[in-house]
Amino acid sequence: MKPVTPYNSSESKKEQVAQMFDNIAFRYDFLNSLLSLGIHKGWRKKCIRLIADKKPKYILDVATGTGDFAIAAMKLKPVKVIGIDISEGMMKFGREKIQKLQLDKTITLQYGDAETCDLPDNSMDAITVGFGVRNFENLEKGLANMLRMLKPGGQLCVLEFSSPQHFPIKQFYKFHFKYITPTLGKMFSKDTRAYTYLPESIKAFPDNERFTAILEKVGYKNASFSSVGLGLAAIYLAEK
Ligand SMILES: C[S@@+](CC[C@H](N)C(=O)[O-])C[C@H]1O[C@@H](n2cnc3c(N)ncnc32)[C@H](O)[C@@H]1O
Repeated sequence: MKPVTPYNSSESKKEQVAQMFDNIAFRYDFLNSLLSLGIHKGWRKKCIRLIADKKPKYILDVATGTGDFAIAAMKLKPVKVIGIDISEGMMKFGREKIQKLQLDKTITLQYGDAETCDLPDNSMDAITVGFGVRNFENLEKGLANMLRMLKPGGQLCVLEFSSPQHFPIKQFYKFHFKYITPTLGKMFSKDTRAYTYLPESIKAFPDNERFTAILEKVGYKNASFSSVGLGLAAIYLAEK
């Protein structure tokens, strides 16, 4: 099956995804808050609470974008947080935020692809990914590379949209993604495709039980998920 990609071009999904996020970076934080009415912030906080027990000191935030997950991870009092992303445009805004918050001694954002990032084996206590895995070109390759970088016993926490199954959220979600998201997205980001790619990529993503099965297949242990936002998103936890 042809993968869902942002643009109808001959470039790889990865190149198109990086280009799309470069295009919308200047409006990303604003549109995130507008379209979700700020709910996404609470979801990241919940993820951080879920990995707090093991007191992770070295944290990798994959697909860090404008750095919100990396910033949220500061609650854990880590020694180091590294954020990686394939969109320099997104990280530019992230670095500005991190500098303003005077967190730049602990958080570093650097170019890196989930699938090929070459940080050492067994080097991370925890890895977080917020709304990133859906955009990977090769999902299993990205998950396997993250497993390689985790220390034994280290935790992976993935936050990703899912497709709600129940009334009335299912109907609200369909309406929102058909009319509200593309209209506001186009109006503010000037990228006509980014906010129609969003619902298409969520629909194509193997969510909930299917994603936990992929985590186990790749080699993670104790993979589990919990729905948040009445099924609008899910938090996946797994261990090395
Ligand atoms: C929706 S944004 C999420 C940003 C941030 N994690 C958050 O929670 O708001 C998705 C990000 O994933 C990045 N991305 C997509 N594929 C990637 C890959 N293979 N490796 C690293 N980053 C990737 C994109 O460039 C984009 O910045």
